Amino acid sequence: MTREENILIVGSGGREHALAWKVAQSPRVARVYVAPGNGGTALEPGVENVDIAATDIHGLVEFAEQAGVSLTIVGPEAPLVAGIVDRFRSAGLRCFGPRQEAARLEGSKAFAKEFMAKHGIPTAAHRSFTDLDAALNYVRAIGAPVVIKADGLAAGKGVILAEDLATAEAALRDMLDEGKFGSAGSTVVVEEWLRGEETSYIALVDGEHILPLASSKDHKARDDGGRGPNTGGMGAYSPAPLVTPALEARILREVMEPTVRGLAADGLPYLGFLYAGLMVSDDGEPKVLEYNCRLGDPETQPILMRLESDLLDLIDAALDGKLRGTEARWREQVALGVVLAAGGYPGGYEKGLPIHIASEPAATDVKVFHAGTRLSDDGELLSAGGRVLCATALANDIDGARETAYATLKGVALRDGFYRTDIGRAGNETQQL
Ligand code: AMP
Ligand code: GLY
Repeated sequence: MTREENILIVGSGGREHALAWKVAQSPRVARVYVAPGNGGTALEPGVENVDIAATDIHGLVEFAEQAGVSLTIVGPEAPLVAGIVDRFRSAGLRCFGPRQEAARLEGSKAFAKEFMAKHGIPTAAHRSFTDLDAALNYVRAIGAPVVIKADGLAAGKGVILAEDLATAEAALRDMLDEGKFGSAGSTVVVEEWLRGEETSYIALVDGEHILPLASSKDHKARDDGGRGPNTGGMGAYSPAPLVTPALEARILREVMEPTVRGLAADGLPYLGFLYAGLMVSDDGEPKVLEYNCRLGDPETQPILMRLESDLLDLIDAALDGKLRGTEARWREQVALGVVLAAGGYPGGYEKGLPIHIASEPAATDVKVFHAGTRLSDDGELLSAGGRVLCATALANDIDGARETAYATLKGVALRDGFYRTDIGRAGNETQQL
């Protein structure tokens, strides 16, 4: 096969570094562009950053046309929810991800909840509100603990797990009265607090058929033991032992298949990566916490380290509606990634701090995927975000992968940087109350 395809990856996080790294390994690929990319993608062989923001859809279409890009893969939700796929398609360009209407599954929690109710997909009981008094009355009637969610995209910050009524009422006031979450909070979803263990479930979808990716789990809380505020994810591993073949069959039957069927029936056929955030109860019942219309970050980093197949072949099969009969090959090994975050994250943090990585590991069983990093004009690696990088390792068991990932992080210096020390340890993510 000749190297003739140019691929564009949209985004700048760890997920996009992992996508670029994986795609660059394909024998089909001449060049991988990442817009806007990060310090890691700038240094990756065969990969080139393009200085266009992930939400500058016009600029991205123009670039794809000029650079002869044969396929664009969209990493983050914002451009998907803003309709990037529709715009690329109207320009006659291949772009992998759901159309704007289908991306509402992530873009509007109220839409997602209505969709689930309509199609009998298990999820927490809920009601949506735009009126503060109505919301307050409802919350007072059902009492705490209760979960309050801003309807729209809020970068992982729009979910308040309220253990008492005062917290719930304050969250409702912040969203519906004070406008703290902007338009994302002008509708709120009030929902039942679910118990159990969380897992991510991610699949490729071609409009009709589902090709599950390897199972994975991330750690959303900032601190060891599942404590502290929610983050975008502090580490992840694959496979997730919780997802036994029996549970996986149930997730497919009760969640993924009805979701894909329901979207098609509603005239919104879903093409792209589909991610269900699930709470699995003690008796093994999966319920949907949220949908994402994209790959998870940092789940992608361990998942792609385990993927043997050419990702482009899988994406092509999805775009051509041929996922039925397509199989993905996975390494038997376990992959685990630990996120190094900037001091202060998920609150405010400093940017522009120098990062020193002792030596970029040469081994193929460990990789430092960059997220919030950039190269200065003179080639210095600087911090540029809250989640800075994710050291990801592959080993025969989870202990080996954890050991290598942490040993790699020991060689990374960033002032005030921090990471959880218990990624992938059993029972460390029990729901607190
Ligand atoms: P979401 O963005 O909706 O996935 O929410 C972020 C995180 O909040 C989830 O990963 C869960 O840890 C937690 N969460 C959200 N909804 C609920 C719920 N109904 N019950 C318990 N925890 C929840
Ligand atoms: N790691 C969670 C997410 O990507 O939404």
